[in-house]
Amino acid sequence: MSVQRFAIAILAAGKGTRLQSKRPKVLHCVAGKPLLQHVIDAALRVAAPKDIFVIVGHQAQAVEQAMAHTGVHFVLQAEQRGTGHAVQALAPFVAGVDDLLVLSGDVPLITSEMITQVRDFHLAQRAAMTILTARPKNPFGYGRVLRAAPGQPEVEAIVEQKALTPTQQNAPEINSGIYAFRAAPLFAQIGKLTTSNAHGEYYLTDMAAILHQAGERVVALTADDAQQVLGANTIAEMMQLDTTMRMATAQRLMAQGVTIFRPETCVIDADVVVGADTIVEPFVQLLGHTRIGQDCLVRSYSVVQDCTLGDNVLVRQGCVLDRAVVGDGALLGPYAHLRPESRIGKAAHIGNFVETKNTIVGDGSKANHLSYLGDAEIGANCNIGAGVITCNYDGARKHPTRIGDGVFVGSDSTLVAPITLADGAYVAAGSCITEDVPAEALALGRARQVNKLQWVRKRRGYSK
Ligand code: UD1
Ligand code: CA
Repeated sequence: MSVQRFAIAILAAGKGTRLQSKRPKVLHCVAGKPLLQHVIDAALRVAAPKDIFVIVGHQAQAVEQAMAHTGVHFVLQAEQRGTGHAVQALAPFVAGVDDLLVLSGDVPLITSEMITQVRDFHLAQRAAMTILTARPKNPFGYGRVLRAAPGQPEVEAIVEQKALTPTQQNAPEINSGIYAFRAAPLFAQIGKLTTSNAHGEYYLTDMAAILHQAGERVVALTADDAQQVLGANTIAEMMQLDTTMRMATAQRLMAQGVTIFRPETCVIDADVVVGADTIVEPFVQLLGHTRIGQDCLVRSYSVVQDCTLGDNVLVRQGCVLDRAVVGDGALLGPYAHLRPESRIGKAAHIGNFVETKNTIVGDGSKANHLSYLGDAEIGANCNIGAGVITCNYDGARKHPTRIGDGVFVGSDSTLVAPITLADGAYVAAGSCITEDVPAEALALGRARQVNKLQWVRKRRGYSK
């Protein structure tokens, strides 16, 4: 017995006119990821990239470029003449496929479980077309699925919002825009689509009536959770999906032992991972591919983008962390700024108004106040005093600062790179260091103080 060969098509060629935006609709982000990326990610959990075909058209290049990393195929629908026309464009690429799953690039909450359910139902029903439907609170705007008889899976037709008759206006079952088709009857009949409708387009939805009238089996499967199949045609609808998706992410994390206070105030992207017993305070943003370990505390107003934090990390209020790696037990902030390529060691402290960039801070080292550490490599157990600055830029190029283990840099010192401070070196407060400091040496790089006795009295004109 041969195995049914499946392909997945994702419709993403439309302009998104209702969005009023220069950017293509499917590249707009919800929960930190483009709509289309959500759909491709769900499809990739069900099928290999070689079996996934994204139909692109409007700003095709931009869409392809943004999704190239996924390894899926792209099929060009040069003119966007409707969802049915998009599937027609796909025909030459899916010869030999038994069944075709069609997903919509603007229905981003779809899960791989749901896709699998549609596929399995479709096969079990031996249908030519299976439509995933839902009964949302407000069906306005969606195409409506008309069943042959209530409670029966058979469908007679899908009617678009603008074509609903007065008695059909309140038909509660919507078309999600997600379907499974048997390829042979689909492509045998798809030529029957016409453009005689409100938009003058080839509607894929008309395949329901066409196949039904051709004596083929057309059925519907209703999603239990209508939220999962809602589409996004306007920015407001997208932001609603964003809220739903982020809340789902927060729920997933809470189910895994993460405490999130006031989760509705937090912005947590879909792919964020957080360990058990970590506490997230209100108004925190955890973005991109951020991973946070166990037993951490992330305090309010911190924004963490694409970072990896170990266990027991304390992120005090107002930190901005971007593509940084932070070791177990580190203390950050309040108001620390870790810029890309910062690697903070175990139990290290990066305190208030300290900025790091492309810098390694060794285990147990501390920079507690008001510093800029750029292009620096700092060993273990160093003390970087308040106001220390690495002068890494000479106006044309960046230069490195190397600091060994156990180095003490006194407050308000400037380290003019390229420069090396060897293990155990001491730098006196207020020094401008322009020459390398040998191991365990004391470097003083400041002007000598002069006290002019009675100077103030003299200036005021007092005489003895
Ligand atoms: C479509 C359905 C509607 C359903 C709704 C669910 C049709 C005619 N209507 O309406 O029944 O309730 O989805 O969300 O299908 N696209 C192309 N090429 C085109 C036109 C569109 O690839 O020529 C893509 C779009 O980029 C989009 C998807 O198809 O990702 C759906 O198109 P859209 O215009 O948003 O359809 P709706 O009006 O929402
Ligand atoms: Ca849509």
